[in-house]
Order: sequence, then C-alpha cells, then structure tokens
Amino acid sequence: MKPPFFFACFLSCLSLAACAPATDTRPGQPVAHRQQAFREILKSFEPMGMALRENRYDPETFLRHARALEQQKDAPWPYFGPETNYPPTRSKNAVWSEAALFASERDAFLQAVTRLRQAAETRDEAQARPAYEAVHERCRVCHKAFKSE
Ligand code: HEC
Repeated sequence: MKPPFFFACFLSCLSLAACAPATDTRPGQPVAHRQQAFREILKSFEPMGMALRENRYDPETFLRHARALEQQKDAPWPYFGPETNYPPTRSKNAVWSEAALFASERDAFLQAVTRLRQAAETRDEAQARPAYEAVHERCRVCHKAFKSE
C-alpha cells in the first residue's frame, strides 16, 4: 500500500500555515517591533518568577535579570503609534480608544520595574518577592484590558 501522500502533504501544509508567525508587512514594522520588545521583556522577567516559585533565589542572577528588565522596559511603547492597529497585532482597540488609561498603566509598569531593580539591589529575597509580584500584577492588569488572548 502506498501511503496517502497527498493527504499527508495537505496536513503538513495546514500545520505550517498555523505555525508560521504572522508577518508585519508595513514600513518600519511597528507591530513586529513591539511584539519583539515584549518577548525580550518576558525573557528577563520569566526566569525571576521561576526562581522564586522554585525556591532557588540567587541574588546575583536575580539582579542581572532585574537590571536587564529595566534596560528593556521602555522599548515597546514608541511602537504604539496612531496608525499601528492592524494585523498581526494582538492589541485591543482600547489601546487607542482609552489612550490615557493605557498611558497610566504603562507608567505604573515602568515605576514597578524600577522598584523591582532597587529591591534586587538589596539582594534580600524578602524584598525581591513582593517587588516581583507588583510587576507581575502590572503585566496582568494591562493585558486584561489591552491585549487579546
Ligand atoms: C501597559 C500595558 C502592558 C504592560 C504593563 C505589559 N504589556 Fe505585554 N503586551 C501589551 C500589549 C498591548 C500587547 C500586544 C502587542 C501587539 O500585539 O500589538 C502585549 C504583548 C505581550 C507579549 C506578546 C508578544 C508577541 O509575541 O506577540 C508578551 C510576551 C508580553 N506582552 C509580555 C509582557 C510581560 C512579561 C509584561 C510584564 C513584565 C508585560 N507584557 C507588560 C501590553 C502590556
């Protein structure tokens, strides 16, 4: 018996289409740039959370990530220009229709990130934990209002 070749092809094309990252075809690629900037933020933020959850807080590693996060914290925002609500964005319309609220959420996030870096400088886990949680809360609150799943 020959394998159902065409059927297998069809399936693999389907899954390729599902997996391929949607591209941002506009000049300057603002949507792609801000998504990339958020992914960089996640790369610094996630290991801090994992270390705390798994009870393996290492002050120097934690501080390194907290400093990196502070370096990255400003990167996404300039890419939310007025004409940048188009696919493949996962931003909700509220980013633009509730711009003042979005800006205040962004500012609360920026302050929380600075406080996290300051807490990390103390090398004291008891200070690092709540400061990490405060940033995590900023991610969650903003995503709930401004990012679709
Ligand atoms: C002030 C609002 C706000 C805050 C704070 C915020 N985000 Fe987001 N984030 C967004 C929006 C809006 C998008 C959708 C961007 C788009 O697709 O246009 C997003 C997208 C993302 C993405 C998806 C990127 C991709 O590949 O599409 C990740 C990951 C992410 N954020 C991580 C984080 C983490 C981690 C934090 C906290 C440390 C955080 N964000 C804080 C608004 C926020």
